[in-house]
Amino acid sequence: MPSLFFMLLLSLESSCDETAAAVVSDGRTVLSNIVASQISVHAEYGGVVPEIASRQHLEAVSLVIEQALAEANLDISRIEGVAVTQGPGLAGALLVGISAAKGLSLGRGIPLVGVNHIEGHLLAVFLEAPVEFPFIALAVSGGHSHLYRVDGIGRYTTLGQTVDDAAGEAFDKVAKLIGLPYPGGVAIDRLATTGNPQAIKFPRPLVNDGTFNFSFSGLKTAVLTHVKKFPESKEEGINDLAASFQAAVCDVLTRKTAAAIAATGIKRLVVAGGVACNSALRRSMAEFAAANGVELSIPSPKLCADNAAMVAVPGDFYLANGYSSGFDLDALPVWPLDRLAVRLKEKS
Ligand code: KG4
Ligand code: ZN
Repeated sequence: MPSLFFMLLLSLESSCDETAAAVVSDGRTVLSNIVASQISVHAEYGGVVPEIASRQHLEAVSLVIEQALAEANLDISRIEGVAVTQGPGLAGALLVGISAAKGLSLGRGIPLVGVNHIEGHLLAVFLEAPVEFPFIALAVSGGHSHLYRVDGIGRYTTLGQTVDDAAGEAFDKVAKLIGLPYPGGVAIDRLATTGNPQAIKFPRPLVNDGTFNFSFSGLKTAVLTHVKKFPESKEEGINDLAASFQAAVCDVLTRKTAAAIAATGIKRLVVAGGVACNSALRRSMAEFAAANGVELSIPSPKLCADNAAMVAVPGDFYLANGYSSGFDLDALPVWPLDRLAVRLKEKS
């Protein structure tokens, strides 16, 4: 399959609690990347409230599109295609971006393509520096902790995944139970910088089970048991608690990734998704890569968190290679990456 790229793409993302629009040229050059975050709205509820998310997306979607075009210094008439996150995510939230994308596509007579959010995360790094295929990818976000073998755009094989909580979910739940605000990942990361990661020996679930799967719910329970036994650890000991929990998560993620690299012999690694913003994980992966001759690519933090520019990378590829979505495009709240191979088969 050729890997031509398209031209000027407007991309939209509304799968969870960020309403985002971007203008990207050739699936590579970001002309604008606007993100309207709803975090402050959901923070008072301690997590994302789906109905509120949908309403917030509705209020923000036109504004972020206008802003993305203004920042790119382009009129809508110059846009040649629209890419939108189709899933996975919250159905009502996804539908806001999808409806806006359909409206633009229909109104302007330009092609439309639905994109998998996780595929966007995995390929965001191409906006900074392309990576050669095949590579191993670790996707760590609020809903995912997956290890993939990536043989090309659209060619993903799941090597392992979480059997319960995702890494970001574990960060958020542990933050909540030690009294930190939502979203907890950033708060734990910040506190951990002045904590001792070896202060508390938390378990490393599944680390030697011979699979590439993860499990984080037992770790969350271990933190809960610890704070019940030592209530002061939520007060003056909170930095050590945060650092020790974070060290356990990063250790498991790094060791399982190392095992996937050893098993496949593929020495290129991409780490992606919101949790890839975590400073300890970035450090741990960098140390592992340097010690083992692995070529590591992690996008800069603003491209690890949810954004629309990442949606344009696969969007551009599919449109350029003859795959577009019809107006029957619907939200896919659950959408495993392995299913994308169908698109390439349809075109081969
Ligand atoms: O990819 P993302 O922005 O949204 C989803 O697709 O879920 O990931 C959000 C997750 C949240 O669980 C958030 O707490 C976590 O990423 N996160 C972090 C950090 N920044 C965001 N986790 C640990 N350390 C961080 N610095
Ligand atoms: Zn995400």
